[in-house]
Amino acid sequence: MSFDLVLFGGTGDLAWRKLLPALLQAHRHGSLPAGGRIVGVARDDLSDAQYRDLIRSRFEGVEGDKQPSEDEFARFAELLHYQRMDLTQPADYQRLKDRLAERNADVVVMYLATAPQLFTVACEQLGAAGLATPHTRVVLEKPLGHDLQSNRAINAAVRGVWGERQIFRIDHYLGKPSVQNLLALRFGNALFEPWWRRETIASIEITIAERLGVEKRGAFYDQTGALRDMVQNHALQLLCAIAMEPPINAHADAIRDEKLKVLRSLVPWTDAALAQNVVRGQYGAGQLAGEPVRAYRAEDGVAPDSHTETFVALRAGIANWRWAGVPFYIRTGKRLAAHEAHIAIHLRPTPHPIYPTPLVCGTNRLVIHLQPRDGLALHLLAAASETRGVRALAEAPSLTPVQLDLDFQQRFGAERVGAYERLLLDVIAGRLNLFVRADEQEAAWRWVEPIMQHWDAQNARGEGPRPYAAGTWGPGAASALVARDANTWLEEC
Ligand code: BG6
Repeated sequence: MSFDLVLFGGTGDLAWRKLLPALLQAHRHGSLPAGGRIVGVARDDLSDAQYRDLIRSRFEGVEGDKQPSEDEFARFAELLHYQRMDLTQPADYQRLKDRLAERNADVVVMYLATAPQLFTVACEQLGAAGLATPHTRVVLEKPLGHDLQSNRAINAAVRGVWGERQIFRIDHYLGKPSVQNLLALRFGNALFEPWWRRETIASIEITIAERLGVEKRGAFYDQTGALRDMVQNHALQLLCAIAMEPPINAHADAIRDEKLKVLRSLVPWTDAALAQNVVRGQYGAGQLAGEPVRAYRAEDGVAPDSHTETFVALRAGIANWRWAGVPFYIRTGKRLAAHEAHIAIHLRPTPHPIYPTPLVCGTNRLVIHLQPRDGLALHLLAAASETRGVRALAEAPSLTPVQLDLDFQQRFGAERVGAYERLLLDVIAGRLNLFVRADEQEAAWRWVEPIMQHWDAQNARGEGPRPYAAGTWGPGAASALVARDANTWLEEC
């Protein structure tokens, strides 16, 4: 099957950091279908050869097994082509059309890795130029809009040109092997289903903590913030994977229907809940790995009086039979103490304790480690603390936490495929399972919008996010949020 992958934003940050490395890996692994062509599109005036040289420089200094050999890069470079385009100019789309007509590939993928302001015009122009044929697919990167209304406007523009089955909305968390495993764990094993519910589960924590700050994206991030950047999409998609009902099969719409039901069941916000159950923070100067780091407001591109949040912690609820009353805590932030994402499922204590000393955090929990480690840990209690001769054996031994560990990286190692590699291959093959449908996105925006409005009102009163020092776990109010339910975050256990 031949394909043309047209990479709008072909010299941009995303192509540079994620997409071209992922395509190179897919090519090295032999998983990219033969007969492919990658056409980088940007405004720069470059020839094919100059584009290849530029991309080659991307891989200089790459270490370890990600470093391609000369020969590997040379073979990959044969796929690379370049087309100069100004996305607002109709004539440039005609030139692209001529370029694509040279070979009439079986599948044409239009990957919009551009600034989101260009999505609408690019889709309209591609449609007007006759480039939205039935064998074309379009890939949209987040953020898809700034709020519900702008999200709907983009989706309307895209759907004016393509059918829903041709639209691939990326949430790269869905491509992560660890998230694949989460679904496999739940729906490939009978073991979990009987206790995957409110009767056994006391609370669920979803943490996506980053050590990184805003890097070179200060100007973008200052308009975005952690709620739009991470919660509306990645964190809510993880919540769906945890909370959804078993789909009737593994096809895209069966899975997406179930995720949508979860998003629609999220307990709507009230003023009281917004005041109590949402914490926003912004990092100040601090220390990370012994190095001083500057405050968010001192980052390039960030307003010195910015009220943008770099941290969010919230308590959500799901109003359905399986989950009623179970708190779902979501927490994400930049410049935190660790680079670590996990989902911790805390089980209820035994109904009638027969052993002494109830331990703090001593109940059973299942921790799904998403990154950088990728695996499962089942925390159990065992009677391991008694040793002969130290003291008289008690009638009932006190319990000690022990842990069953599974490390997927060790188990599957080199066979693992990275998130973008996986998603790009899915687009080329036309598999929609790991992509987000418009109605899911809308439901997620609908749920986060009251939080945005609540913060706008606070900002207008001069009340900004709570400060936290870089290198910590965020504002103390985040701990207070879970402590009100007599819970703790995983690292506090
Ligand atoms: C992106 C956000 O979607 O996800 C970034 O825009 C964030 O701000 C990134 O750093 C995190 O992704 P990952 O895969 O590194 O956890």
